[in-house]
Amino acid sequence: MDPYQNPDQQSDATIHAMVTRLEQRAQHPFFLRLIANYANQVRTDIPLHILDLGCGTGVVIRQFETRLHSESTLIGADISSRLLDAARTHSPGSRIHWEKLESAPLPYDASSFDVIVMHTLLSHVAEPEVLLREAHRTLKPGGSLIVFDADHASTTYGLPDYAKTRETDQKLVAAIATHPNICRQLPRLLKHTGFELERHSAEILSECGRGDFWLSSVKGFARLIPALGILPDKEGQAWVESMLSSHEAGTFFAAGSYYTFFASKR
Ligand SMILES: C[S@@+](CC[C@H](N)C(=O)[O-])C[C@H]1O[C@@H](n2cnc3c(N)ncnc32)[C@H](O)[C@@H]1O
Repeated sequence: MDPYQNPDQQSDATIHAMVTRLEQRAQHPFFLRLIANYANQVRTDIPLHILDLGCGTGVVIRQFETRLHSESTLIGADISSRLLDAARTHSPGSRIHWEKLESAPLPYDASSFDVIVMHTLLSHVAEPEVLLREAHRTLKPGGSLIVFDADHASTTYGLPDYAKTRETDQKLVAAIATHPNICRQLPRLLKHTGFELERHSAEILSECGRGDFWLSSVKGFARLIPALGILPDKEGQAWVESMLSSHEAGTFFAAGSYYTFFASKR
């Protein structure tokens, strides 16, 4: 059901909701800080060959473009030509190379890249291990893999009733993430695919009272719930109304946690 597995097969309304959400969340200061936290740890004194795998509309590789050595080569690659079109539109004058991928194997030589970034990619692919093996093959020895993802399994939108909150959270998460618990799997998956886990960091993004970051997610769900049949119509409308009215009333609650893993190719 996860629409990010095959964006090009989605309706225009769903693609519009995806593009809007990806771009809006990347304007949020908290989310920008999470990207900056790892982007600032990449070397800027030498040119690098960097791949943003599953780049979507390009929000992450654009951040690298402003930071890296000017002779670096930047590639934003994705399976969705419609999201890549949005990436081009959002990056006028950029020197990023946008590349349309088929499913694995990746069309890159072994030991090509200094850095590969996967930003909220692995929670959406059917076989994360296959992409991790491909990342390992295409990284240079000593190269860095940065995996950033949501621990969707802990994302929650507060409703007055706890049982209803849990039930709805599970349905929403199941509809937009193929692997809601990918962060909990990554220490094992990285080891099995030949990576050395160097370090990780995690942060919780919570909003209490009024929403901002999570409200743009609610507005995305307002489009996705009927488009994907996530909840029965009336139930979906009631959930969206409850979120919007709690925001207006100053009683909104939503939270989720995000992890960044730094791994190196042995
Ligand atoms: C949640 S979006 C994240 C986009 C972007 N990294 C961001 O955070 O704004 C997931 C992206 O992964 C892409 N994707 C899904 N499966 C893929 C695959 N096997 N290889 C490359 N990209 C893939 C989707 O098309 C989508 O753009």
